[in-house]
Amino acid sequence: MTDLPLLSVRSATRLYGSRVGCEDVSFELYPGEILAIVGESGSGKTTLLNCLSCRMALTGGSVSYRMRDGAMRDLATLTEAERRFLMRTDWGFVHQNPADGLRMRVSAGANIGERMMAVGDRHYGRIRQTAEDWLGRVEIPGARIDDRPTAFSGGMRQRLQIARNLVTGPRLVFMDEPTGGLDVSVQARLLDLLRSLVGEMGLSAIVVTHDLAVARLLSHRIMVMKEGHVIEHGLTDRVLDDPQHAYTQLLVASILEV
Ligand SMILES: Nc1ncnc2c1ncn2[C@@H]1O[C@H](COP(=O)(O)OP(=O)(O)OP(=O)(O)O)[C@@H](O)[C@H]1O
Ligand SMILES: [Mg+2]
Repeated sequence: MTDLPLLSVRSATRLYGSRVGCEDVSFELYPGEILAIVGESGSGKTTLLNCLSCRMALTGGSVSYRMRDGAMRDLATLTEAERRFLMRTDWGFVHQNPADGLRMRVSAGANIGERMMAVGDRHYGRIRQTAEDWLGRVEIPGARIDDRPTAFSGGMRQRLQIARNLVTGPRLVFMDEPTGGLDVSVQARLLDLLRSLVGEMGLSAIVVTHDLAVARLLSHRIMVMKEGHVIEHGLTDRVLDDPQHAYTQLLVASILEV
């Protein structure tokens, strides 16, 4: 990790009319760091994630990102082209529902290859080889390369979505409940896989989850949200082993009971 933040968030606020989506959220994310955003349903996790990743506009505050040239840019000042470029190259976004992050009507190989072509790769043989390598890395048999995601199981679709996002070597990956819709046993393997890929590639990531076990396994830091506000923020082990806020204590206690 370096001492310069990759992302700097200042009083980020998103209101929906008079309803609070998220309010006054500030934090910094450093290269190589995995941040988990946890909290109950409706606490503002997705709203915040969408605002951080330029999928939704803030109504107050700012988010700045360190571009590859080292310059810190306020995301609100980027042109549409610059924003799209970031989304294709520097960033990944893993949706809870793989169908939202995949093209269901084209082959698995094309789903991966499309991201490579978006960053300028035009060599068919290399694209196909890389796509096949990536299928292997996410534990999908290479023989399935010409199958469409519609012929895949939920777990395979999610792994394909991860491959599609990571193939271009993004610097920052946003994930919204990446293991949300899956069986517990499938979840555990997917988490292991995510953890090793993210570690290997030295990525930074922001992972939204309501599952503290996911946060424990993947993240360095945890931010706990309630009613649109961050109520606790700290190193993962500290927050889970010694929660300070009464609400976090309740969350932690509730998983110990099961
Ligand atoms: N498009 C919208 N229009 C109006 N209000 C919205 C909209 N999207 C979210 N909200 C409200 O903002 C608040 C935060 O919602 P958000 O979806 O960010 O929560 P969440 O923490 O992601 O919940 P979940 O765990 O259920 O996905 C909620 O009160 C929600 O009703
Ligand atoms: Mg959500």
